[in-house]
Amino acid sequence: MRFDVVTLFPEMMDALAAGVIGRAQKQELINLQCWNPRNYTHDVHKTVDDRPYGGGPGMVMKIEPLDAAIDSAREQSPSAKTVYLSPQGQPLTQDMARQLSSEEGLILICGRYEGIDERLLSKQVDLEISIGDYVLSGGELPAMVLIDTVSRLIPGVLGHADSAEQDSFTNGLLDCPHYTRPETLEGEQVPDVLLSGNHAEIEKWRLQQSLIRTRERRPDLFNQRELTRQEQALIEQYDLMSKTSSD
Ligand SMILES: C[S@@+](CC[C@H](N)C(=O)[O-])C[C@H]1O[C@@H](n2cnc3c(N)ncnc32)[C@H](O)[C@@H]1O
Repeated sequence: MRFDVVTLFPEMMDALAAGVIGRAQKQELINLQCWNPRNYTHDVHKTVDDRPYGGGPGMVMKIEPLDAAIDSAREQSPSAKTVYLSPQGQPLTQDMARQLSSEEGLILICGRYEGIDERLLSKQVDLEISIGDYVLSGGELPAMVLIDTVSRLIPGVLGHADSAEQDSFTNGLLDCPHYTRPETLEGEQVPDVLLSGNHAEIEKWRLQQSLIRTRERRPDLFNQRELTRQEQALIEQYDLMSKTSSD
């Protein structure tokens, strides 16, 4: 999959050379190219922003350099969807990331200042995506978040060891707790079941933990879920055990 990032700060994308995403780039499972609107200016100061019509604080990104940078990206990736990272966009979710991972390419537009001229949105943008209800100084970190979360879902990017199958949100639940050596740390022990070697019991315990965590931490997700009989039974068993131990 191809990611074309339209940004005034292409050097920020260098951070994606690390870890799983860096390895995926080396293996050419994903390709990343940056397009700097500043290279598409024609004045001596390489101006990419201008004062807002109507007055007020802050600057707005000029249309022409952005438009030309996006056109260059689209020449390289004609079938790509164009995404503007914006706090006003649809919230990024795991489901959305999964859908985007089947695209051939994405052109990601990173805003700066007060944002981009509204007319560019109707001309060039297919989709606006937000990474959360807070405001960052630019769209580069959101673009990196999107690239990371989408790339993890592309076949071959994660090895078996770091498979996404059990990650939070994949099946609508939060992930279960994880442990590694040592078996005892400052008096706290790894749950016995994980040392039992009984894979069926371990699976049941993990599902039960996921259910309980989701109920406690994300009731919004939990309440959307239609529980299977097995899941209902695991929750009842947990509640009964908690009640017995507190009596
Ligand atoms: C300072 S922000 C502009 C915010 C804009 N004035 C508003 O309130 O909607 C500059 C740029 O950062 C990016 N940005 C900031 N917060 C974001 C978020 N939560 N999700 C995605 N992009 C964001 C956008 O590209 C935006 O154009």
